[in-house]
Amino acid sequence: MTTQTILVTGGAGFIGSNFIHMLAEERGDWRVINFDALTYAGNLENLRAVEGWDGYQFVKGDVSSEADVMAALKACGDGPLSVVHMAAESHVDRSILSGLPFVQANVVGTQVLLDACRARGVERFVHVSTDEVYGSLGEEGFFTETTPLAPNSPYSASKASSDLFVRAAFHTHGFPACITRCSNNYGPYQFPEKLIPLVIANAQEDKDLPIYGDGMYVRDWLYVRDHCEAILAVLEKGVPGEVYNIGGNNEVPNLELVKEVLAILGKPESLITFVADRPGHDRRYAIDAGKMRDELGWEPRYEFSKALPLTVEWYTSQVEWLQQVRTGAYRDYYDTQYASRTNAP
Ligand code: NAD
Ligand code: TYD
Repeated sequence: MTTQTILVTGGAGFIGSNFIHMLAEERGDWRVINFDALTYAGNLENLRAVEGWDGYQFVKGDVSSEADVMAALKACGDGPLSVVHMAAESHVDRSILSGLPFVQANVVGTQVLLDACRARGVERFVHVSTDEVYGSLGEEGFFTETTPLAPNSPYSASKASSDLFVRAAFHTHGFPACITRCSNNYGPYQFPEKLIPLVIANAQEDKDLPIYGDGMYVRDWLYVRDHCEAILAVLEKGVPGEVYNIGGNNEVPNLELVKEVLAILGKPESLITFVADRPGHDRRYAIDAGKMRDELGWEPRYEFSKALPLTVEWYTSQVEWLQQVRTGAYRDYYDTQYASRTNAP
């Protein structure tokens, strides 16, 4: 692959910021344009460490706005360009409260981006999706790339829908897109509305840890760095039109996971509080990532028994980061660091 300029959408979020950190380490000669609307989930504090990197540039904007997308593409220049599309509304519980923002960001946003990228002639487009598009598993079996789509939440319905528009762009226009479908990620910079950072943040303050239903819902946890390496493998070696499932071979029921976090923190299990179940809660997700292994040579490298304590340690040591997220002060970062510049992105 010759492309050295990458447009990353949603780069100020959890996975996007980890992905950009990885590129700074592993592909330091690339240019990376981070295009992000800075919703509540976008946090430029996540990227402080790469701001000094010459190859990095931030552009504020919404993927569902044609004008914003054109401005981001302009910032990428005229040379060969690839796109990693991660911008999305990502939290299931929020989608249950209100589905429309998920349609706007995830479905409309993806189609606006696809049209603009096709007109621009991008070399490769990686659409980052989720295993949740396959719906829920019983006690047996795994999701493969040919498992029928059966999304159950407004979030997963919007992601499945966006996957179908990406598929259509490939089949109709020959647009060089791949789709990745990943299991639950954990690691640094995750917004503490998701289970693992929520539990760490609450336990540190001896607050209740809300466990939905019986706590026996199973997720296949993957360390975020492994996911980022998988996305890079698809970007560099993936075959256009193909779907790639990415998983951690690591199924854990929520209750067991929360108990492990409490043990690492030295906090009592009495903090666990069973609360009303999430409506339509998917029972089990599990990924067969054999295609990634056999065709792209990717396998997860981080063991849960080591990466979970590393993750807990990261949140407990990042006192300022957590404080800024809790108080909402992280939302001032753009105004103080970028908006006052005459050439604000
Ligand atoms: P996140 O919520 O932490 O970050 C999303 C980012 O997208 C934020 O920076 C936000 O500001 C930005 N964004 C939202 N709407 C936007 C819009 N309209 N225009 C531009 N930017 C916008 O999400 P995440 O956990 O980093 O997930 C990234 C991607 O990976 C998503 O597409 C998600 O569906 C997918 N995914 C996540 C997981 C996981 O466990 N977190 C698992 C599988 C797939
Ligand atoms: P979450 O981190 O929201 O990811 P997803 O819904 O995309 O899998 O939730 C992970 C699991 O933890 C899921 O089964 C719901 C459950 N959960 C709780 O039990 N309590 C909570 O407070 C949250 C946020 C999630």
